[in-house]
Amino acid sequence: MSTASPKLHVLPSPEALYKESAARVLSLGQQAIAERGSFHMALAGGSTPRALYKLLARNAAQLDWSRVQLYFGDERCVPPDHPDSNYRMVREALLDRLYTQPVVHRMAGEKAPAEAAADYTEILRRNLPADGLDLALLGLGGDGHIASLFPGSATLDDRKHSVLADFIISMNSWRLTLTLPVFDQARQLMLLVSGASKAHVIEQVFNGHASSRLPVQRLHPRGALEWFIDDAAAALIPQPE
Ligand code: 6PG
Repeated sequence: MSTASPKLHVLPSPEALYKESAARVLSLGQQAIAERGSFHMALAGGSTPRALYKLLARNAAQLDWSRVQLYFGDERCVPPDHPDSNYRMVREALLDRLYTQPVVHRMAGEKAPAEAAADYTEILRRNLPADGLDLALLGLGGDGHIASLFPGSATLDDRKHSVLADFIISMNSWRLTLTLPVFDQARQLMLLVSGASKAHVIEQVFNGHASSRLPVQRLHPRGALEWFIDDAAAALIPQPE
Protein backbone atom coordinates (compact mmCIF):
# COMPACT_ATOMS: atom_id res chain seq x y z
CA MET A 1 0.00 0.00 0.00
CA SER A 2 0.97 3.62 -0.21
CA THR A 3 4.09 5.00 1.39
CA ALA A 4 2.17 8.09 2.54
CA SER A 5 -0.64 6.97 4.80
CA PRO A 6 -3.87 6.79 2.83
CA LYS A 7 -6.63 9.20 3.78
CA LEU A 8 -9.95 7.53 4.56
CA HIS A 9 -13.24 9.37 4.05
CA VAL A 10 -16.27 7.40 5.25
CA LEU A 11 -19.44 9.07 4.02
CA PRO A 12 -22.94 8.49 5.42
CA SER A 13 -24.52 7.67 2.06
CA PRO A 14 -23.73 7.12 -1.64
CA GLU A 15 -24.99 10.65 -2.32
CA ALA A 16 -22.54 12.09 0.22
CA LEU A 17 -19.74 9.98 -1.31
CA TYR A 18 -20.43 11.39 -4.78
CA LYS A 19 -20.76 14.94 -3.51
CA GLU A 20 -17.50 14.76 -1.57
CA SER A 21 -15.52 13.03 -4.31
CA ALA A 22 -16.85 15.37 -7.01
CA ALA A 23 -15.77 18.39 -4.94
CA ARG A 24 -12.32 16.82 -4.57
CA VAL A 25 -11.94 16.13 -8.28
CA LEU A 26 -12.95 19.68 -9.16
CA SER A 27 -10.57 21.21 -6.64
CA LEU A 28 -7.68 19.01 -7.81
CA GLY A 29 -8.49 20.02 -11.38
CA GLN A 30 -8.54 23.72 -10.54
CA GLN A 31 -5.23 23.38 -8.71
CA ALA A 32 -3.55 21.45 -11.57
CA ILE A 33 -4.72 24.00 -14.16
CA ALA A 34 -3.63 26.92 -11.99
CA GLU A 35 -0.19 25.41 -11.32
CA ARG A 36 0.56 23.59 -14.59
CA GLY A 37 -1.96 24.80 -17.15
CA SER A 38 -3.65 21.41 -17.62
CA PHE A 39 -5.31 18.55 -15.73
CA HIS A 40 -4.58 14.97 -16.74
CA MET A 41 -7.07 12.58 -15.16
CA ALA A 42 -7.60 8.84 -15.67
CA LEU A 43 -11.21 7.73 -15.25
CA ALA A 44 -12.43 4.58 -13.56
CA GLY A 45 -14.91 2.29 -15.28
CA GLY A 46 -17.60 0.05 -13.91
CA SER A 47 -20.79 1.31 -12.27
CA THR A 48 -19.64 3.13 -9.12
CA PRO A 49 -18.25 6.28 -10.76
CA ARG A 50 -21.23 6.89 -13.08
CA ALA A 51 -23.00 9.10 -10.50
CA LEU A 52 -19.77 10.97 -9.85
CA TYR A 53 -19.38 11.76 -13.56
CA LYS A 54 -22.97 13.03 -13.74
CA LEU A 55 -22.26 15.30 -10.75
CA LEU A 56 -19.06 16.59 -12.40
CA ALA A 57 -21.14 17.44 -15.47
CA ARG A 58 -23.72 19.24 -13.32
CA ASN A 59 -20.90 21.29 -11.77
CA ALA A 60 -18.96 21.64 -15.02
CA ALA A 61 -18.74 25.43 -14.72
CA GLN A 62 -16.26 24.96 -11.86
CA LEU A 63 -13.57 23.64 -14.23
CA ASP A 64 -12.04 24.81 -17.51
CA TRP A 65 -12.67 21.53 -19.41
CA SER A 66 -10.74 22.86 -22.41
CA ARG A 67 -7.61 22.32 -20.28
CA VAL A 68 -8.57 18.82 -19.17
CA GLN A 69 -7.19 15.65 -20.73
CA LEU A 70 -9.11 12.49 -19.89
CA TYR A 71 -7.65 9.00 -20.02
CA PHE A 72 -9.08 5.60 -19.13
CA GLY A 73 -7.70 3.42 -16.36
CA ASP A 74 -9.03 0.41 -18.20
CA GLU A 75 -11.46 -0.66 -20.89
CA ARG A 76 -13.35 -3.72 -21.92
CA CYS A 77 -12.35 -5.00 -25.39
CA VAL A 78 -15.65 -4.08 -26.99
CA PRO A 79 -16.68 -1.33 -29.44
CA PRO A 80 -17.27 2.15 -27.93
CA ASP A 81 -21.04 1.89 -28.30
CA HIS A 82 -21.24 -1.51 -26.60
CA PRO A 83 -23.23 -1.62 -23.31
CA ASP A 84 -20.10 -2.87 -21.49
CA SER A 85 -17.86 -0.08 -22.80
CA ASN A 86 -16.42 2.20 -20.13
CA TYR A 87 -16.10 4.87 -22.81
CA ARG A 88 -19.83 4.64 -23.51
CA MET A 89 -20.58 4.98 -19.79
CA VAL A 90 -18.33 8.08 -19.57
CA ARG A 91 -19.79 9.54 -22.77
CA GLU A 92 -23.34 9.18 -21.47
CA ALA A 93 -22.64 10.29 -17.87
CA LEU A 94 -20.16 13.08 -18.57
CA LEU A 95 -19.07 13.98 -22.10
CA ASP A 96 -22.53 14.36 -23.64
CA ARG A 97 -23.42 16.70 -20.77
CA LEU A 98 -20.43 19.05 -21.15
CA TYR A 99 -20.66 22.26 -23.18
CA THR A 100 -16.86 22.57 -23.40
CA GLN A 101 -15.22 19.29 -24.37
CA PRO A 102 -12.01 18.00 -22.80
CA VAL A 103 -9.39 16.10 -24.79
CA VAL A 104 -10.48 12.46 -24.51
CA HIS A 105 -7.94 9.68 -25.00
CA ARG A 106 -10.13 6.64 -25.60
CA MET A 107 -8.79 3.10 -25.38
CA ALA A 108 -9.69 1.39 -28.67
CA GLY A 109 -11.72 -1.50 -27.30
CA GLU A 110 -12.80 -2.37 -30.82
CA LYS A 111 -9.25 -3.21 -31.94
CA ALA A 112 -7.31 -6.41 -31.36
CA PRO A 113 -6.26 -6.26 -27.67
CA ALA A 114 -2.49 -6.28 -28.23
CA GLU A 115 -2.78 -3.58 -30.92
CA ALA A 116 -5.03 -1.44 -28.72
CA ALA A 117 -2.56 -1.74 -25.82
CA ALA A 118 0.33 -0.70 -28.08
CA ASP A 119 -1.69 2.24 -29.44
CA TYR A 120 -2.54 3.45 -25.94
CA THR A 121 1.05 3.12 -24.83
CA GLU A 122 1.90 5.58 -27.58
CA ILE A 123 -0.98 7.87 -26.59
CA LEU A 124 0.35 8.03 -23.03
CA ARG A 125 3.89 8.64 -24.30
CA ARG A 126 2.74 11.52 -26.48
CA ASN A 127 0.30 13.18 -24.08
CA LEU A 128 1.10 12.44 -20.44
CA PRO A 129 3.38 14.95 -18.71
CA ALA A 130 6.77 13.55 -17.72
CA ASP A 131 5.66 13.29 -14.11
CA GLY A 132 2.51 11.39 -14.98
CA LEU A 133 -1.18 11.73 -14.25
CA ASP A 134 -2.45 14.46 -11.97
CA LEU A 135 -5.24 12.19 -10.78
CA ALA A 136 -6.32 8.59 -11.25
CA LEU A 137 -9.80 7.52 -10.20
CA LEU A 138 -10.21 3.87 -9.30
CA GLY A 139 -13.04 1.63 -8.23
CA LEU A 140 -12.56 -1.61 -6.34
CA GLY A 141 -13.77 -5.05 -7.33
CA GLY A 142 -15.08 -7.50 -4.76
CA ASP A 143 -11.89 -9.55 -5.33
CA GLY A 144 -9.72 -6.50 -4.70
CA HIS A 145 -8.99 -5.75 -8.35
CA ILE A 146 -8.41 -2.22 -9.52
CA ALA A 147 -8.80 -1.12 -13.14
CA SER A 148 -8.36 -4.46 -14.93
CA LEU A 149 -5.52 -5.65 -12.71
CA PHE A 150 -6.98 -8.87 -11.38
CA PRO A 151 -5.71 -11.22 -8.64
CA GLY A 152 -3.14 -13.71 -9.88
CA SER A 153 -2.54 -11.92 -13.16
CA ALA A 154 0.98 -11.41 -14.48
CA THR A 155 -0.02 -7.81 -15.23
CA LEU A 156 0.45 -7.11 -11.50
CA ASP A 157 4.18 -7.82 -11.76
CA ASP A 158 4.84 -6.00 -15.02
CA ARG A 159 7.00 -2.94 -14.41
CA LYS A 160 8.02 -2.51 -18.07
CA HIS A 161 4.76 -1.59 -19.77
CA SER A 162 2.31 1.24 -19.10
CA VAL A 163 -0.65 -0.45 -20.83
CA LEU A 164 -1.39 -4.16 -21.12
CA ALA A 165 -4.08 -6.38 -22.63
CA ASP A 166 -5.16 -9.27 -20.43
CA PHE A 167 -7.62 -12.13 -20.88
CA ILE A 168 -9.66 -12.28 -17.66
CA ILE A 169 -10.62 -15.93 -17.21
CA SER A 170 -13.26 -15.19 -14.56
CA MET A 171 -15.00 -12.88 -17.02
CA ASN A 172 -14.12 -14.80 -20.18
CA SER A 173 -13.18 -11.54 -21.80
CA TRP A 174 -10.24 -9.38 -22.83
CA ARG A 175 -9.50 -6.16 -21.02
CA LEU A 176 -7.08 -3.24 -21.48
CA THR A 177 -5.51 -1.75 -18.39
CA LEU A 178 -3.01 0.79 -17.18
CA THR A 179 -0.36 -0.88 -15.05
CA LEU A 180 0.69 -0.32 -11.44
CA PRO A 181 3.69 1.88 -12.35
CA VAL A 182 1.33 4.34 -14.07
CA PHE A 183 -1.03 4.48 -11.11
CA ASP A 184 1.86 4.71 -8.65
CA GLN A 185 3.32 7.66 -10.56
CA ALA A 186 0.09 9.68 -10.34
CA ARG A 187 0.16 12.75 -8.11
CA GLN A 188 -3.10 11.66 -6.55
CA LEU A 189 -5.18 8.46 -6.44
CA MET A 190 -8.84 8.41 -5.43
CA LEU A 191 -10.54 5.10 -4.70
CA LEU A 192 -14.35 5.16 -4.76
CA VAL A 193 -16.14 2.28 -3.05
CA SER A 194 -19.87 2.10 -2.50
CA GLY A 195 -22.33 -0.50 -1.28
CA ALA A 196 -22.64 -3.47 1.05
CA SER A 197 -21.25 -5.84 -1.59
CA LYS A 198 -17.82 -4.24 -1.03
CA ALA A 199 -17.85 -4.45 2.80
CA HIS A 200 -15.83 -7.69 2.89
CA VAL A 201 -13.09 -6.53 0.56
CA ILE A 202 -12.84 -3.23 2.47
CA GLU A 203 -12.50 -5.22 5.70
CA GLN A 204 -9.71 -7.29 4.10
CA VAL A 205 -7.87 -4.17 3.01
CA PHE A 206 -8.21 -2.21 6.24
CA ASN A 207 -7.99 -5.03 8.75
CA GLY A 208 -5.00 -6.60 7.05
CA HIS A 209 -6.75 -9.98 6.78
CA ALA A 210 -5.63 -10.51 3.21
CA SER A 211 -3.48 -13.65 3.17
CA SER A 212 -2.19 -12.76 -0.28
CA ARG A 213 -1.95 -9.10 -1.08
CA LEU A 214 -4.92 -7.94 -3.11
CA PRO A 215 -4.23 -5.98 -6.30
CA VAL A 216 -5.34 -2.77 -4.59
CA GLN A 217 -2.71 -3.42 -1.90
CA ARG A 218 -0.02 -3.56 -4.55
CA LEU A 219 -0.39 0.19 -5.05
CA HIS A 220 2.62 2.16 -3.83
CA PRO A 221 1.71 5.66 -4.96
CA ARG A 222 4.29 8.43 -4.81
CA GLY A 223 1.45 10.83 -4.26
CA ALA A 224 -1.59 10.94 -2.05
CA LEU A 225 -4.13 8.12 -1.92
CA GLU A 226 -7.63 8.95 -0.74
CA TRP A 227 -10.43 6.47 -0.12
CA PHE A 228 -14.02 7.63 -0.50
CA ILE A 229 -16.19 4.90 1.01
CA ASP A 230 -19.85 5.02 1.92
CA ASP A 231 -21.16 3.64 5.21
CA ALA A 232 -22.47 0.41 3.63
CA ALA A 233 -19.04 -0.45 2.22
CA ALA A 234 -17.37 0.57 5.49
CA ALA A 235 -19.73 -1.49 7.68
CA LEU A 236 -17.07 -4.03 8.75
CA ILE A 237 -14.23 -1.68 9.61
CA PRO A 238 -13.81 0.43 12.74
CA GLN A 239 -15.13 3.91 12.07
CA PRO A 240 -12.65 6.76 12.51
CA GLU A 241 -13.44 8.78 15.69
C1 6PG B 1 -14.17 -1.81 -14.82
C2 6PG B 1 -13.47 -1.06 -13.72
C3 6PG B 1 -13.26 -1.97 -12.56
C4 6PG B 1 -14.23 -1.49 -11.52
C5 6PG B 1 -14.45 -2.51 -10.45
C6 6PG B 1 -15.62 -2.08 -9.57
O1 6PG B 1 -13.85 -1.61 -15.98
O2 6PG B 1 -15.10 -2.56 -14.45
O3 6PG B 1 -12.46 -0.35 -14.07
O4 6PG B 1 -11.98 -1.98 -12.02
O5 6PG B 1 -13.75 -0.27 -10.95
O6 6PG B 1 -14.74 -3.74 -11.07
O7 6PG B 1 -16.76 -2.08 -10.39
P1 6PG B 1 -18.15 -1.47 -9.89
O8 6PG B 1 -17.92 -0.01 -9.69
O9 6PG B 1 -19.11 -1.75 -11.01
O10 6PG B 1 -18.48 -2.17 -8.59
